[in-house]
Amino acid sequence: MDKSRDESPATPDSGPAAAGFAENAHGGAAPRRSFLQWFAVGLGAVAAVAVSLPLVGYFFRVPKRRTMWVPLGPAEQFPLAETRVATFDNPLRTPWDGSSATTSIFVRREQDNAAGEQFLVLLANCAHLGCPVSWFPQSGLFMCPCHGGVYYATGERASGPPPRGLFPCNWRVRAGQLEIEAPHFPSLRDCESLPG
Ligand code: FES
Repeated sequence: MDKSRDESPATPDSGPAAAGFAENAHGGAAPRRSFLQWFAVGLGAVAAVAVSLPLVGYFFRVPKRRTMWVPLGPAEQFPLAETRVATFDNPLRTPWDGSSATTSIFVRREQDNAAGEQFLVLLANCAHLGCPVSWFPQSGLFMCPCHGGVYYATGERASGPPPRGLFPCNWRVRAGQLEIEAPHFPSLRDCESLPG
């Protein structure tokens, strides 16, 4: 009897155990490979969308919003060198704006020049986080109650966290009425900026 063949130790490379091992190995690798393939496909799709979005935006860009003018009343009602609060119903309101569509704004009539009346119209929203600022005629400053932002009468930043001055808005005088360009709250992006 040839004992050397019978007593040879079993190895993982041979026999039924080895077959089972190989099967397990394939059974684990296949789902992993499939997952990686789907992951790569997903990443590629995300990258394709990210690259194509600017192009889509260019070809299907939304037309510029229409300018709307809001009357604030007779220009003469604003005395020279005084800052007054005016309120108006923002026509750019959305149905869910509610009472917040009633907007306050500061109007200051500057020295008239050869071109006619000069006005400074400032949004009442702080340039930091948008809290409504108050005007203090005694000190000639706008102050924000939220974090202590302070602005000069011109709207320029005086101190505190605001990174810049108050947002001025476009205005015009038509038939003796002061009108302002309706601001698109809350983005404020349609108002010009002052140097900070
Ligand atoms: Fe006015 Fe912060 S919101 S200082």
